[in-house]
Amino acid sequence: MEKHFKRTLITTALPYANGPVHIGHLAGVYVPADIYARYLRSKGEEVLMIGGSDEHGVPITLRARTEGVTPQDIVDRYHAIIKKSFEDFGISFDIYSRTTSKIHHQVASDFFRTLYDKGEFIEKTSEQYYDEEAKQFLADRYITGTCPHCGNEKAYGDQCEKCGTSLSPTELINPKSALSGSALVLKETKHWYLPLDKWESFLRQWILEGHKEWKPNVYGQCKSWLDMGLQPRAVSRDLDWGIPVPVEGAEGKVLYVWFDAPIGYISNTKELLPDSWEKWWKDPETKLIHFIGKDNIVFHCIVFPTMLKAEGSFILPENVPANEFLNLEGDKISTSRNWAVWLNEYLEEMPGKQDVLRYVLTANAPETKDNDFTWKDFQARNNNELVAILGNFVNRALVLTHKYFDNKVPARGELTDDDRQTLAEIQEVKANVERLLDSFHFRDAQREAMNLARLGNKYLADMEPWKLAKTDMGRVATIMNIALQITANLSIVFGPFLPFSVKKLNQMLQIEPMPWSRLGETDLLETGHELGKAELLFEKLEDAVIEAQIQKLLDTKKANDEANYKAKPIRETITYDDFAKLDIRVGTILECEKVPKADKLLRFLIDDGLEKRTIISGIAQHYKPEELVGKQVCFIANLAPRKLRGIVSEGMILSAENVDGSLAVIMPQKEVKPGSEVK
Ligand code: 2FM
Ligand code: ZN
Repeated sequence: MEKHFKRTLITTALPYANGPVHIGHLAGVYVPADIYARYLRSKGEEVLMIGGSDEHGVPITLRARTEGVTPQDIVDRYHAIIKKSFEDFGISFDIYSRTTSKIHHQVASDFFRTLYDKGEFIEKTSEQYYDEEAKQFLADRYITGTCPHCGNEKAYGDQCEKCGTSLSPTELINPKSALSGSALVLKETKHWYLPLDKWESFLRQWILEGHKEWKPNVYGQCKSWLDMGLQPRAVSRDLDWGIPVPVEGAEGKVLYVWFDAPIGYISNTKELLPDSWEKWWKDPETKLIHFIGKDNIVFHCIVFPTMLKAEGSFILPENVPANEFLNLEGDKISTSRNWAVWLNEYLEEMPGKQDVLRYVLTANAPETKDNDFTWKDFQARNNNELVAILGNFVNRALVLTHKYFDNKVPARGELTDDDRQTLAEIQEVKANVERLLDSFHFRDAQREAMNLARLGNKYLADMEPWKLAKTDMGRVATIMNIALQITANLSIVFGPFLPFSVKKLNQMLQIEPMPWSRLGETDLLETGHELGKAELLFEKLEDAVIEAQIQKLLDTKKANDEANYKAKPIRETITYDDFAKLDIRVGTILECEKVPKADKLLRFLIDDGLEKRTIISGIAQHYKPEELVGKQVCFIANLAPRKLRGIVSEGMILSAENVDGSLAVIMPQKEVKPGSEVK
């Protein structure tokens, strides 16, 4: 039987404050959470949506070190940028706070202390690598060394990226600090561990038996963790940035960032509601939902619930609708490679288009598998769906009402079968969308909402009120009344998805936002109600705008390629005799033309000093034929002839390949006689 709850507490993963947020964050976590929160609020339910920045952890300290500023400077900068981006996109947090706040330090510290006092931790001393120059213990990925499996000298303490083996730092040969480059020493250090293994049977029961309804990607990941067997997990680190471990003799140690961050949900609730936060976290009638990305599943389904359970007075999450990842133009989004659409930049370049991005990200949400964001798809969804379906329908309904009925809602007369059918379909929308939203199927829910606009368009197209205007104004009135009822329903159903556009639509309809409960009603607008001014809800996106965005990404790719360029290792040594076998000559290009039906090939006629020879070369994408005629090139003259596209090629023209894959033909530095040897 379905459980009944009094209120819903929505948490959203706290993004690290070491960079701005991008479309992947929005698509995976914040847009779905916001849709859900707005939907519940529109139903009049008691709901809280909690967010904040995650401001601890090693990467923040490293970034500070590179920039020569303090970690606090870094998090102050990005917390402000991130918070503003969320506000700009209408992510309707009840609070967006941060983990460097005083209250969070207190709450997290107390939480640790409670578990400590209850004896819920194991204390363990182990040997870990210490950088004597940087005077700190190093996290696995800040240790580099030689891979014991493949000999890669740049393997990380957690993984060798060359052969893919996962490693532990002590397996590395010649481990070095990625911070200072200095050699490392093993040093003893004490830490506190949460014995997840002790909770294994509870977790199996709670998740695998109790929450079979969780999304398959979430359930599956939990099951595989549980099947592998859980180990105690360290909840402290040797670091000088974070929340001090509140235990005597723990100087220089802080809470592990993944211990304090989820407690941030609790601290932020307490910051917002100092007197009533407990009912949100401790009353079993609160439904707790964590919105996160897939890389956070284990922390939210296994580690944090174990912490809450061990503490003893907290509720556990009812669901964790984690999403997969969003890629960008076929490549993994990456902060370090700047391969992202940053929200702050998007808004500068596309002012006022928050809802377009919200719409596209929901339409393509990586709910069940990784998905791809492309600018072409962005343009197509804007032009073919938001403009052509939703915007077009609303605009026609308003413009026709203005034209025929002095901008007032006309009365419905006698109904035809078509009218009745359309009204019945309006009434069905609510149950469909609710079923989908209640089960976190946001993309299908949005599609269902768009279908209502499709219905409206089809109704107007079929009824053709503009043709009836001369003969049957009574009929036109009925049709326009029904069309306007659809627009009012659209303003309810799109409320959670497109808050900015719905605000505009409500102004155009001259109505206050209507509650969700009224969705499906067919008398939302009273006869005689005067409408406002019709405006366009969405604008067509021209090719030039989209191409500029694509070019921006191409530029990023080029910059990355250049920054990462490393000449290939030199091949195996050969003898002089091996070299001398090659007969490399200079020739003058007499003719050059494209090979028909082959995009890459050019056919050359070359004066080699003895006779004329034909060479086919795959450089058509890098040179125009006319650029090369008359030039001198180097070619291998004694290569066995081969047939390419039916033409015999007698040799090979030499070119150098640049980082970006472009080719540059090798030419002698001054003119020489054709047939000159290259030695
Ligand atoms: O993966 C991340 O970006 C983490 N900062 C998420 C933390 S979620 C929660 F636990 F606060
Ligand atoms: Zn390796």
